[in-house]
Amino acid sequence: MRHFLTTADWSRDDLQAILDDAVGLKKEPLQPRLKGKSVALIFFNPSLRTRSSFDIGAFELGAHAVVLEPGKGSWPIEFEMGAVMNQGPEEHVREAARVLSRYADIIAVRAFPKFEDWQIDRQDRVIRAFAEHATVPVINMETITHPCQELAHMMAVQDRLGEVDGKKFVLTWTYHPKPLNTAVANSALLIASKFGMDVTLLCPNRDYLLDERYMNLARDYTSAQGRGLTVTHDIEEAYDGANVVYAKSWGALPYFGRWEEEKPLRDAHKHFIVDAEKMARTDDGLFSHCLPCRRNVKVTDEVIDGPNSLVIEEAENRLHVQKALMSTLVND
Ligand code: CP
Repeated sequence: MRHFLTTADWSRDDLQAILDDAVGLKKEPLQPRLKGKSVALIFFNPSLRTRSSFDIGAFELGAHAVVLEPGKGSWPIEFEMGAVMNQGPEEHVREAARVLSRYADIIAVRAFPKFEDWQIDRQDRVIRAFAEHATVPVINMETITHPCQELAHMMAVQDRLGEVDGKKFVLTWTYHPKPLNTAVANSALLIASKFGMDVTLLCPNRDYLLDERYMNLARDYTSAQGRGLTVTHDIEEAYDGANVVYAKSWGALPYFGRWEEEKPLRDAHKHFIVDAEKMARTDDGLFSHCLPCRRNVKVTDEVIDGPNSLVIEEAENRLHVQKALMSTLVND
């Protein structure tokens, strides 16, 4: 039995097999591969794309999806092992994961960091606990990485560019009024480097570097394929000759839990917005973002609505790649 917690656990060939299957599912969406099966979707945080694409995807494969929101329609869940449960949560993940495993063939979990202490959040305790105690495959619907988004993005890029090896991929930090999760940024680094792209991370300064676990993986993946991971704070250098520009905002890890102190730093970099002038430096570069996206804060209308924008294709691909993923995990 395999889980899908991070693409770091999966080979490029295995991921490509999912992407190839997703292309077939895009052409022929209704395939009853999971007839009579069920999927439990557990959301600790809001969603538009993930929730609807998993639910509809399960339906299109002949499966049934149950959506649970712990603390809102289902019991709050305790994750500490050995906890004396005389406050708050009504049940423990040890029971929740095992009971849901008796009902469903897949458990999928969305659990964002608490944004208080990165040393705790980086352990990804919620989904790791489900994976430990479940007896069915567990899918990450976004925790500290967002592996389904990675697949959807790569599917969209391959569709436009064909071969991606050696192409220049730029992950650019962008301003956002709130400090956001680093999950999609971590994931962008992982998928671009795993697929042999030359990766550039553009961010305001070293405070916005991503967790060393993902920086190191990206370095290892790129160097193993004769590519590179470049970190720059120079906007022009980053955009020059880019084939793909991926925009995301995230909070600076050294300021975790001290967000009032980070705010002036973030506010000073509103000019990182993706606009036509910057995109003109690229090699007819594609633009993408995971959505939801604050228009004219992270990217101008002109770029997000332009012909090189992948945002809607990437969002659509969530449906196809997740269907391929669910069938792979159940039939593994
Ligand atoms: N990109 C993404 O995961 O969207 P939602 O948060 O709406 O699910």
